[in-house]
Amino acid sequence: MMAISGKTRVCGVIGDPIEHTLSPPIQNAAFSHLKLDFVFLAFHVKAADLENAIRGMRGLGIHGLNVTMPHKSTVISYLDKVDSAVKFLGSANTILNRDGKLSGFSTDGVGALKALRENGAELAEKKVLLLGAGGAAKAIAFSFAQEAGSLCILNRVPEKAAVLADALNRMFGKKIVGGALSPSAVQKNLRDADILVNATSVGMHPTVNQSLVAPQWLKPNLVVMDIVYNPVETKLAKDAKTAGAKVISGVEMLIYQGAASFEIWTGRSAPIGVMRKAALNKLSNTGENK
Ligand code: ATR
Repeated sequence: MMAISGKTRVCGVIGDPIEHTLSPPIQNAAFSHLKLDFVFLAFHVKAADLENAIRGMRGLGIHGLNVTMPHKSTVISYLDKVDSAVKFLGSANTILNRDGKLSGFSTDGVGALKALRENGAELAEKKVLLLGAGGAAKAIAFSFAQEAGSLCILNRVPEKAAVLADALNRMFGKKIVGGALSPSAVQKNLRDADILVNATSVGMHPTVNQSLVAPQWLKPNLVVMDIVYNPVETKLAKDAKTAGAKVISGVEMLIYQGAASFEIWTGRSAPIGVMRKAALNKLSNTGENK
């Protein structure tokens, strides 16, 4: 880490719980690599203290914050300006403080899009099958919807998938479908899908032996993205690799989303390799239960 000076800019992440966050090692590695006089800290902020925390951001001149559970939605009411993704999603994960004016951004969707592109996969005209309709799925759907050839959203609670599909159709005027996440629906939709995204928590520690996709439904010409990064290689990722599919891990989405926040705060292009190394290093040091 760079030496702290009288001009050091403070960034951080707020959430509850927060102690297992990977953001401090990832962001500090990037600041340090580019010799930026910035530091990144984790702040444990309980729901009842959120308003005070944001006041503190203004009062102390904290330059940037990442926002995680449980504040992503509630934080919006304390911001001066939000981007179009935040408006659609109703949640923000990044705040930039410009002379006391707080702007909110959501970098989950652009992070997923960049993870896809930078790993050599294209989205234009591709058929996408998205599993899940929670916060992360919504962000991915919003950023993929415009460019993808088609988008099918399947969720355990089917109404959530239908509501999301309707909202996207209204926004983009496309035929996006939402339905129930049954094994037969996954199998059927995978037959002609080009890109599969798991945006559910299935496969995350401790359910490491679970996957919503049977191995025999996977195929070589498929791109498989998993938002789960703990374990780094999920059962779905292992099965996809065995089937000869291209795999983009949750670590890629995590670092590209962090990179997008970094670029908002610093205006510099993020050192992805350095950030990836810091994330993987932290994940391997903390074991698979963090
Ligand atoms: P996040 O912010 O990480 O997206 P979330 O908003 O709680 O978290 O969403 C979790 C997603 O994982 C949801 O799509 C959830 O499905 P439901 O909306 O039906 O609850 C999905 N999910 C979690 N456990 C699941 C399981 N065992 N099988 C299928 N889907 C599951």
